[in-house]
This record gives sequence, C-alpha cells and structure tokens, in this order.
Amino acid sequence: MSEDRQTVFSGLQPTGNVHIGNYLGALVNWVKLQDNYDTIYCVVDLHAITVNYDPAEYQKERLEAAKVLIATGIDPNRSLFYFQSQVPQHAELSWILGTMTPTGVLNRMTQFKEKAESAGSNLGLYSYPVLMAADILLYRANLVPVGDDQRQHLEMTRDLAERFNNRFGEVFPIPEALIPEKTARVMSLTDPTAKMSKSAPNEKSRVLILDSPDVIRKKIKSAVTDSEPTVRYDWDEKPGISNLLEIMSGCTDRSVDDLVSEYADSGYGVFKEAVAEAVVTKLAPIRSAYQQLDDREVARLMQKGALDARTRAEGFAQEIRKVTGLSAP
Ligand code: AMP
Ligand code: TRP
Repeated sequence: MSEDRQTVFSGLQPTGNVHIGNYLGALVNWVKLQDNYDTIYCVVDLHAITVNYDPAEYQKERLEAAKVLIATGIDPNRSLFYFQSQVPQHAELSWILGTMTPTGVLNRMTQFKEKAESAGSNLGLYSYPVLMAADILLYRANLVPVGDDQRQHLEMTRDLAERFNNRFGEVFPIPEALIPEKTARVMSLTDPTAKMSKSAPNEKSRVLILDSPDVIRKKIKSAVTDSEPTVRYDWDEKPGISNLLEIMSGCTDRSVDDLVSEYADSGYGVFKEAVAEAVVTKLAPIRSAYQQLDDREVARLMQKGALDARTRAEGFAQEIRKVTGLSAP
C-alpha cells in the first residue's frame, strides 16, 4: 500500500467455471494494474450466495476461484487478495449505503431483472448492487476493472458516492470503471448474440481458463458462425466471427484489423484453428501454474489477506461511522 498510488478494486464471484470472457473482459486488466496501482481484489462470496447453492460444494468452489485467480497472475504479495465474507466491514457499509439507495434505482438494474426472472428474487439479489458499491467505496477505490455487464452497477456506485458525499462530507472519490475497448463483452460460442456466461447450461458455450488444449480446440471448432465464408469484423452480420476475432486479438495482442487482413479469405476452418491455437497458447501457462498450486498454501494466503484487509477496512469504516453519527459514544 502506498499513499500516492491510486487504488484499484474489483471482484469475481466464486461460482466455478471462470471463463475466457472473465479473463479478457476483466482479469487481464487486474493483473496488469498490479504494476502501478494499489490493487485490492476480492473473491465476492457474499454476492454469489444470492442464488441457490450447495454449502459443501461452495466451500470448494471458493478456494478453486482463488486458485484460478492466483494462476492467472494475481499476486497476493502485491495485491490485497481475500474472500469478501471474511471482512465484515463490506456488509456494514452496504447497510448504510442501502439506506440512501432509492428502490426505484434498484428496480431498473438489468442484472437483477434477468436473475430474478431465471432464479427467483430475494432481498440479497435486489440489494446486490449496493453491496458491490460498498466493496468499492469502502477502500476509496479510484478505478474498477470490469467487463461491460457491470457498467450499470458502476454508474449506481458513482451516484451513491456523490449522494453520500453531499450528505456527510467528501469521503469517497468518484470511482471510474475500466472497461476494455474490445473483449468487454465476450459472447457465447454457441449463441453469439448472448453473453458468454458461467451458468449457461451448454458447456460448449464457453472456454474455461482450465480447459485442456483438446477441449479448447473442440469448443472453438464447433463455435457457431455463419454461411458466408469471409472473415470480417461485423457484429451485425457476423457476430460469431467478430467474437472469435476479438478473442484471438485478446489472446495475441494483435489488432482485429491485422487479423482480418491475414485471415479474410483463408476459410473458416483455417481461421478457427488459428483462434484455437492462440487461446491454447495463452491459457497453457495459467493451467500449468494452477496445477502447481497447493490448496493449504492458498488457504493460508487467503487468511493472511483477510487479516490485512480487515485492518485496512476497519480504519476506513471508523471514518464512515464517525461522519454518519455511528461511532462509539
Ligand atoms: P462474474 O463472473 O460475474 O463475477 O464476473 C467477473 C468479471 O468478469 C466481471 O468484471 C465481469 O464484468 C466480467 N465478465 C463476465 N462475463 C464476461 C463476458 N462474457 N465478457 C467480458 N467480461 C465478462
Ligand atoms: N458484480 C460483479 C460481477 O458480477 C462482481 C463484483 C462484486 C464486483 N463486487 C465488485 C466487481 C466490486 C467490481 C467491483 O461480476
């Protein structure tokens, strides 16, 4: 932690299946930002229990998620990295912010409406964006690396920060979202008009960070495209191919234009093989880093992260209690 660096906060839900959309939409930025920012990354296990889950299975999935993030390049020695549920100050601030969140705003949240429709509604799901705002504001974060689907939640967080500051004094900086220009919304391989998601029933719709090279090749080979065999970047006419172009660009650091000029007339078979190899090459080191991680060592790192986070969060929480008239009498 350093006083003069800006603070970055982001979170990922530990619901298994971390996929290439998470990776290219958010995690690549998480890893890079560690070089120049004070970075705080959180496995948001309180967010993920807003839909039904199995406690024993969840205990394992939480650790798996932490391992995947470490394998991806989150370094617990450079970032504050922990499980959200281990730091009660998140939930405390969420309550306070909830008292200043109009229900009309929550009613408009698209993620809530979608999830409530498919999984059923509950108060936790409804106030999910308030807890997310608390995660970010608790640490006075300036920058929040996320995918496009979190844009609306970030806007709400900014509004809440302003509302709080107007009422209680300038406590929170107004956080900015950091959303990649391309790959902010990686689409499903089986339906390129829908977002790639952890929970879609068809496993072929997503490439997982831990998929073997063979599985990756099969999934990309069977990705839905179209019948006009030119490789062109055109989301309206060719969403499947445009998605693969962005995925390949994200895995190679080559521009989409550059890829189009190489593969325009090569045929879909050759293009898909090239995409698959680019993804395999990018994910192989992550998979092998994951295989070398020791569960007990990771659990120990997460406990240490939680202790450090609690200390830091408590300092901020005390200031919040003070300005809101809730400090110890
Ligand atoms: P979640 O799995 O919902 O906790 O998401 C973790 C991060 O991945 C968030 O920053 C999301 O915005 C991002 N993300 C999730 N799905 C995608 C996707 N299909 N494309 C790009 N980013 C995504
Ligand atoms: N809502 C985010 C998602 O579904 C996860 C999240 C929780 C988050 N708290 C956060 C992301 C704080 C950024 C900052 O992906």
